[in-house]
Amino acid sequence: MKGIILAGGAGTRLYPLTLVTSKQLLPVYNKPMIFYPLSTLMLARIREILIISTPEDTPRIRQLLGDGSHLGLQLSYAIQEKPEGLAQAFTLGREFISSDPCAMILGDNIFYGNGLGAKLAEAKQSAENGKATIFGYYVEDPERFGIMEFQRINEGGRAQYQVLSVEEKPKEPKSNYAIVGLYFYPAGVSDMAAQVRPSARGELEITTLNDMYLQQGLLNAQLLGRGFTWMDAGTFDSLRKATNFVCMLEQYQGMSISAPEEIAFRYGWIDESKLAESVKKYGKSPYGEHLQAVLENKIIL
Ligand code: TTP
Repeated sequence: MKGIILAGGAGTRLYPLTLVTSKQLLPVYNKPMIFYPLSTLMLARIREILIISTPEDTPRIRQLLGDGSHLGLQLSYAIQEKPEGLAQAFTLGREFISSDPCAMILGDNIFYGNGLGAKLAEAKQSAENGKATIFGYYVEDPERFGIMEFQRINEGGRAQYQVLSVEEKPKEPKSNYAIVGLYFYPAGVSDMAAQVRPSARGELEITTLNDMYLQQGLLNAQLLGRGFTWMDAGTFDSLRKATNFVCMLEQYQGMSISAPEEIAFRYGWIDESKLAESVKKYGKSPYGEHLQAVLENKIIL
């Protein structure tokens, strides 16, 4: 299973902050935004990851994350010349994806919740078995999102959600469930994405791609319920909320969330000496001190 972080875009809603830097490198509390989606893919136990960004920002992101060896990952990079839509990730990533299933996460999407790993594992398993998965999250302003209409069915006492339709920013939304920026697709997604034609706003829409899977009966949905938090940090308001949220969590719990080095260490992808190198690199920052506590085995879970 491969993974893509789509971290390009113009970030116009965050001007002037994003005039000379990538939205994905802005801080969400105490770490760069991209650490959060990277951590989410790592929680799905995906280790081969392609990061797609703009011609200007790709070198900066590469400076931050390198080849991923300090995280036990294989990171590679690709450039999206213009923000022509989310579905373009899979045509740009064709060679990288090869004949594997692939997950994609947006560089400004933050996920948090107990049990996220299990949900990701289920979506990964489905992708390996030929089915795509999207995730729905309740929102109060559904006109702003891709929206899924679905019905709940009980299969052996377990709730399943059957998708009825997907629509991009509908004027009259059929539900309040936004399709969040994390998608799992089976092998062959690049061929499917190549068939997506630009929408009225000129973008290769991920919703069109999802609809293709839906029409073929190959689209699963999972809901992220009240135990989960999802945020996209693309506006000043949501960026501030994301910062407040992470700050509150870390101060209550007294420990960091979404620290890629920690995840890599817990999964056994890096050893103590590699983690110690990162501790040294981050020095006396709270992030460095957190990794030090992990290294000293003070934090067990
Ligand atoms: P958006 O927030 O829709 O777009 P943006 O980041 O360009 O911001 P703005 O609307 O303020 O101009 O994008 C969501 C995420 O997807 C974000 O992380 C950027 C990324 N993205 C790309 O990398 N390429 C694209 O073609 C698009 C549309 C988005």
